[in-house]
Amino acid sequence: MPDPNLPVGTEKAAFVKEMFDTISPTYDKLNRIITFHLDQIWRRQTLNSLQLPAQASLLDLACGTGDFVKLARSQGYRCVGTDFSYGMISHSQLSTDLVVSDAMNLCFSNDSFDGITCGFALRNFTELPPVFRELARVLRPGGGIALLEVARPKSLVMRAGHGIYFNKIVPFVGGLLSDKKAYRYLPASVSYLPPADTITELLSKAGFHNVTHKLLTSGAAQLFTATKE
Ligand SMILES: C[S@@+](CC[C@H](N)C(=O)[O-])C[C@H]1O[C@@H](n2cnc3c(N)ncnc32)[C@H](O)[C@@H]1O
Repeated sequence: MPDPNLPVGTEKAAFVKEMFDTISPTYDKLNRIITFHLDQIWRRQTLNSLQLPAQASLLDLACGTGDFVKLARSQGYRCVGTDFSYGMISHSQLSTDLVVSDAMNLCFSNDSFDGITCGFALRNFTELPPVFRELARVLRPGGGIALLEVARPKSLVMRAGHGIYFNKIVPFVGGLLSDKKAYRYLPASVSYLPPADTITELLSKAGFHNVTHKLLTSGAAQLFTATKE
């Protein structure tokens, strides 16, 4: 159940967009510090899980400042990123093929991409079913998706340490180097995430098959993969 103090519906969408616009100038730096650079390892695992052929066309959904796009291009893929925060896109080091659009209503034609990645954004969407339907629409039949998200470790000891780090240290460091409110929201927003089996079920309902769920780094992150029928 989402934390009752967190916004929902259109209020959530407006809050999330404004928050990412605000933290965009320091987002990359904070991400590396907070995750000890694990974010880049997880992105690589996510991209590799798609097993795309050379020069495949890729969409990175909710691309932020474009980390996935950079990585995908460095591996020879043709990659477009999209995000609804103009601030995040405008603070990217990339100058081409980052497009402002909403995950609930993507500005791409049907069957456009061989693969889709999405990093750390599921909990920020207002609703998952319309987003998954959009992914199924813009992906070509037989194409794959790989969705990366944070998670909470299963082991009690890891969970306790992770809780202290994520709920106390991350907001403190974020408050010092960026925006206090935003870095209090980011850990709290994990409560928006439905359990993994609900997410896999929603993906199946949206028309995906071979849906898998995998924990990364002892459960600090999680990866969903699926193929369009
Ligand atoms: C935590 S950031 C992740 C950015 C990037 N994927 C990464 O790996 O660093 C979440 C991103 O989701 C974007 N986002 C949230 N809701 C969105 C929506 N409805 N449509 C498009 N982008 C959205 C935010 O603007 C933000 O850039």
